[in-house]
Amino acid sequence: MPISVEPLFSPFTVKSLIVSNRFMMGPMTRSFSPEGIPGPDVAAYYERRAQADVGLIITEGVGVDHPAALGSSGIDEVEIPVLYGVEALQGWRAIVDKVHAAGSRIMPQLWHQGVMRIPGTGRHPDAASSRPSGIWGTLDRRSSMPSDYVAKVAEPTQPMSEGEIADIIDAFARSAANAAKVGFDGIALHGGHGYLLDTFLWAGTNRRTDSWGGDHVGRTRFVVEIVKAIRREIGSDLPIMYRYSQWKQQDFDALLATTPGELGEVLQPLCDAGVDIFDVSTRHLSKPAFAGSGKTLAGWTKHVTGLPTVAVGGAGLRKDIYDSHRSGSEADNLDKVMTVFNRGEFDLIAVARALMTDPQFVLKVRNGQESKPFNPEILASKTLYWALFRHQSGR
Ligand SMILES: Cc1cc2nc3c(=O)[nH]c(=O)nc-3n(C[C@H](O)[C@H](O)[C@H](O)COP(=O)(O)O)c2cc1C
Repeated sequence: MPISVEPLFSPFTVKSLIVSNRFMMGPMTRSFSPEGIPGPDVAAYYERRAQADVGLIITEGVGVDHPAALGSSGIDEVEIPVLYGVEALQGWRAIVDKVHAAGSRIMPQLWHQGVMRIPGTGRHPDAASSRPSGIWGTLDRRSSMPSDYVAKVAEPTQPMSEGEIADIIDAFARSAANAAKVGFDGIALHGGHGYLLDTFLWAGTNRRTDSWGGDHVGRTRFVVEIVKAIRREIGSDLPIMYRYSQWKQQDFDALLATTPGELGEVLQPLCDAGVDIFDVSTRHLSKPAFAGSGKTLAGWTKHVTGLPTVAVGGAGLRKDIYDSHRSGSEADNLDKVMTVFNRGEFDLIAVARALMTDPQFVLKVRNGQESKPFNPEILASKTLYWALFRHQSGR
């Protein structure tokens, strides 16, 4: 007898955001916004998911208003959208309106690639890549990145200056203000996977001994200042969602916190600064986070912060994002999702690949229908993301 999914069809509220069910479309980078401007095809892509009962959509990563925010990060010919400039904002407004008309909610994922951007690439090739201590990461660790990419980022660069840090904090605040103006329902921050915000939190890339580094609490300061600056711009009603991860693309085994106590110390400054909900990025949503307990990282995050959480990692599929690179993943592991949800460890379930493959995924879950399996053939070409971008074109 399958476990009931009905509890996932109850509403969820945080601040002014009311979501009709617990399904959130996870952020998935796309490359379909020439000059950074999302057009009608991008609007249709999100509208399709909104019309098929996705409660909350987190957009693809969107570049903040800073010259080094975007560039090549292992993918060529990127056309990643931005959150500044009249035309891009018009594009986003049309997307927000369509999603709202379909009864769904939407937040942009604000993104600065930081160390992952290959120096000299992007629309501002002269801009230095933003690295807290000039290093890309621990080059000898188990990484998800291809060796030809790593060769291009391995050379150390200048650590970020005080001026650069201040500029980037302002850039996040300006882009968040733009998001609020065009009607988004909150701000989602990409604080994981080894991109800029994460590289301040992680000891592997933040070796600073000034006030932007130090111990695990000192390393939170950059993110804290960004969250505070965003809060000043958007006011008190709109929620701020912060995505973090223990793992990095530079190092699968990296840890921001080795114990629940340490996790609390890292996350508390972010809560105090104004984060309302944590999107806890794991590759296996039901995997225990620390030895001695079956609790997941989303569960521990909720426990130590008292804030709502999002769980992610294989919802609707049986394999994680990197394992499915090698072999297929049939659909439907909702029993696993429900087991963790019924233990009270998360509030929203993020679904990424399953919703990319099948825009009707949530409707099908509701109706007890099978959704399309995830097809490994789409991952057959050179890089995972590049193949996935291509695959998304017609959908
Ligand atoms: C094509 C693709 C692009 C992604 N881009 C982003 C991104 O821009 N920001 C982000 O935080 N995560 C990104 N992710 C990770 C997903 O949000 C999600 O955490 C991951 O795929 C695991 O969820 P899933 O098992 O439901 O696919 C991406 C994943 C895929 C497959």
